[in-house]
Amino acid sequence: MKIQSPLTKSGIGIEVADIDNADFFSVKNITELLNKHHFIAFKQLDWSIENLHQFLSKFGDLVRNEKRKDDTMLTLDGSQHAKEVLRGKGRMPLHRDGLLMEDNVQFVAIFCLDLQDLEGGRTFISDSANAFENYPKEIKEALANNGFELTPLDTNYYLKNEAKWYPFNGLIERNGQTLPNGGLHFKRDETASYNVRFCNIDEETSYQYFETLEKILMHPDYTYYHTWQRGDMLLFDNYYVMHGREAYSGERSLIQMQVKN
Ligand SMILES: [Fe+2]
Repeated sequence: MKIQSPLTKSGIGIEVADIDNADFFSVKNITELLNKHHFIAFKQLDWSIENLHQFLSKFGDLVRNEKRKDDTMLTLDGSQHAKEVLRGKGRMPLHRDGLLMEDNVQFVAIFCLDLQDLEGGRTFISDSANAFENYPKEIKEALANNGFELTPLDTNYYLKNEAKWYPFNGLIERNGQTLPNGGLHFKRDETASYNVRFCNIDEETSYQYFETLEKILMHPDYTYYHTWQRGDMLLFDNYYVMHGREAYSGERSLIQMQVKN
């Protein structure tokens, strides 16, 4: 078995390959690894979709809704939903999962079924829990006092799909630690999956706050980029890290499943 850690300079993430012991996948071991490293990159697993389903079900209730294949699997297969950003091929900026859906998501797994002629499309993970220390005081205060709001644009997918702004707390508490909620914005010239802004702050200041946060969260010290191969799985704690993906061309077929808190 090959193990590499950490995967960010800030000290989180673990990559595992050639796992030769089935006990490695025990709930106890994986939970301990996630508590310590916050995300795991599994290389080239020889797994079926059934294996994936069985593995994740051990950690709690899976998120289920009618947007998912067999209720549990979000299929990320860009050609099938070319007009959407989320299920299409556009860039997804850093975010926490579940905000525009209806569930409190603890763990997220993304599994690569197949890819062909893929250019771009790396998934990236930011150590948002540690990067939060570098947020400027005024932005921390705006998150604490104002929070932020989202309005959905991929309305065929999101369950919170009304043409209105949905408010969220800017900060979340986890094991006594304060962590940033939400994520980053789409650029003005970019096709967006949703729009996001700070509440009760003028549009330009809000935009600049997100530009500042992008420099902090996407700093090389805090960011891991995953280049997909068939059978790879990223498993991460949706509280301690944020994730996103690069735009891409070619074919990329992934399955995402979530475990509820
Ligand atoms: Fe996501």
